[in-house]
Amino acid sequence: MSDVQEYIGEELQRFTDEIFDFLRIPSVSAKSDHKNDTRRAAEWLHARLGDAGLDAEVIETPGHPIVLGEWRGAGDDAPTLLVYGHYDVQPPEPLELWDSPPFEPEFREGRLYARGSADDKGQLYLHVKAAEAHLKAGRGMPVNLIILAEGEEEVGSQHLVPFVEANRDRLACDAVIISDTAMFAPGLPSLLFSLRGIAYCEIHVEGPSSDLHSGAYGGPVVNPAMALAQILATLFDDEGRITIDGFYDDVLDWDAETRDGIRSLPFDEEDFALSVGAVLAGGEKEFSVSERLWIRPTCEVNGLLSGYTGEGAKTVLPSRAMAKVSFRLVADQNPERVYELVRAHVDKVTPAGVTTRVEELHGGMPWRAQLSDHLKEAATTALMKAFGAAPVLAGEGGSIPIVGEFERVLGAPALLVGFSLPGANLHAPNEWFPQENIEKGIRALAYLYEELG
Ligand code: BES
Ligand code: MN
Ligand code: MN
Repeated sequence: MSDVQEYIGEELQRFTDEIFDFLRIPSVSAKSDHKNDTRRAAEWLHARLGDAGLDAEVIETPGHPIVLGEWRGAGDDAPTLLVYGHYDVQPPEPLELWDSPPFEPEFREGRLYARGSADDKGQLYLHVKAAEAHLKAGRGMPVNLIILAEGEEEVGSQHLVPFVEANRDRLACDAVIISDTAMFAPGLPSLLFSLRGIAYCEIHVEGPSSDLHSGAYGGPVVNPAMALAQILATLFDDEGRITIDGFYDDVLDWDAETRDGIRSLPFDEEDFALSVGAVLAGGEKEFSVSERLWIRPTCEVNGLLSGYTGEGAKTVLPSRAMAKVSFRLVADQNPERVYELVRAHVDKVTPAGVTTRVEELHGGMPWRAQLSDHLKEAATTALMKAFGAAPVLAGEGGSIPIVGEFERVLGAPALLVGFSLPGANLHAPNEWFPQENIEKGIRALAYLYEELG
C-alpha cells in the first residue's frame, strides 16, 4: 500500500472526529440567526485547509463567505483540479422528527446521522482529507489543487457566480470535481451524466383589499385561494405533461445510447415506490421512473399560503393567496425563458376578479456531462481501487446550479462523483451518510488525484 493510503488508515479516527466537529456547527445559510454559525463553519474549514497544507483564505461576499484553499506545488506543467463543495446546510426543522439532534452527529447501524453529513459538509471534508494524505504522507501531489467551498449553495449560490467570473484566472483548471451527490446503490459508485436545473417562483393572487366575511361577501367577490387553485390546475394535464405553451421546445430528446444506459441500470421501481411510501402515478408514463427523475422536467408546488389554517373554523374570504412553484429543468431548457413562459401562461389563465404577479426566486441551468475519456478512465480506476466496482453512469434529479457556470466560465469539464446513498434524507429529518464511505470516499479521492496527475 502507498504511503498516502497507509496514512489514511492510520489517521481515520482523527478524520472522523474532525467531521463530527464540522457537523456540530449549525451552518444554516437560510436563517439570519445562524449567520455567525455559518461564518464559524467557514473559519473552521479555513483552519483545517491550512492544517492540511493548503494556502487558505476566507473571502468575504455580501452574503456568507467563500473559503478557498490552494496547493500549487505540482508546478505549471501539471494539471489543476478545482474541487467544489458547500459548507452550508438546510434548516433541520421539523426537529421533533429527528431520532437524534441534527447537530449532534452520531453513528447508528453503519450510518452517520447529522444535518450536512451527506449534503455536503461530510462529503466536502473527504476531499480535504484526501489532499492532506497526499501532502502529509506523500511527496506532495501530481496535480495542483484548488478547494472552493461556498456557504450559499442551499440558498441559490447568488454570490458565487460573480466571484467565479471575477476570478477566472485564479480558478483556471483542467477539471472540476464535485462530491455532492449519491452513489447509484450501496457498493455501486456512479459518475453523473446530468443534473436537472431549476426555475423557482412565487405566484401571487390578489383580490379584495382586505380579508372579508365569507358569508357577507362570498359569491360576487372572487376568492383568491380558489383562483390560485384554478391557475395551478392549468399547469399540467392528466398525462403528466406540463401545459405551458412552449415549455417543451428546448427539452432535449436524449440519444438512444443514454436512454439504453438508463434502462440498463438496476433500478427497482417497486423498491423505490416502497421507499417513498407512495404510488408512482406522476409524470409522463411513457418514460421510466428514472427517466422521469433525471431527463424529464417537472412542475411542483413547494408551498401554499392563504386564508385561515389554524385550529377550528373561520369563515373568511382571504384577500390574497400565494403558491411557491418550482420547475425542474432538463437540457437544454433555461430558467430565464421558463420564467417568461410561466408569466405569459399565468396572465392568460388568471380569472376575472383577481390580479396575479409572478416573482422569480432563483434559477439554475440544467447540466449534462462532457466527460473526456481521460476523466472517465481516471475516475473508474480510482473507484475500482476503493470500492472494488466500476462506476455506472447515472443522472440526478436534484440541482447544483453552479456546475454549469463553472463549465461556462472556466471552460473545464465537471466530474460529479458522490458517496452518499439513495434515501439518505437530504433536506429532511434524519439525514445520514454511510459510515464506510468516509474511509472509501477519502481513499477514492486520493487515488483520483493521483490518476489525474
Ligand atoms: N446536493 C444537493 C443536490 C442533490 C439533490 C444531489 C439530490 C443529489 C440528490 C444540493 O445541495 C441541493 O440541495 N440543491 C438544491 C438547489 C437549489 C437550492 C437551487 C436543490 O436541488 O433543490
Ligand atoms: Mn448539496
Ligand atoms: Mn442540498
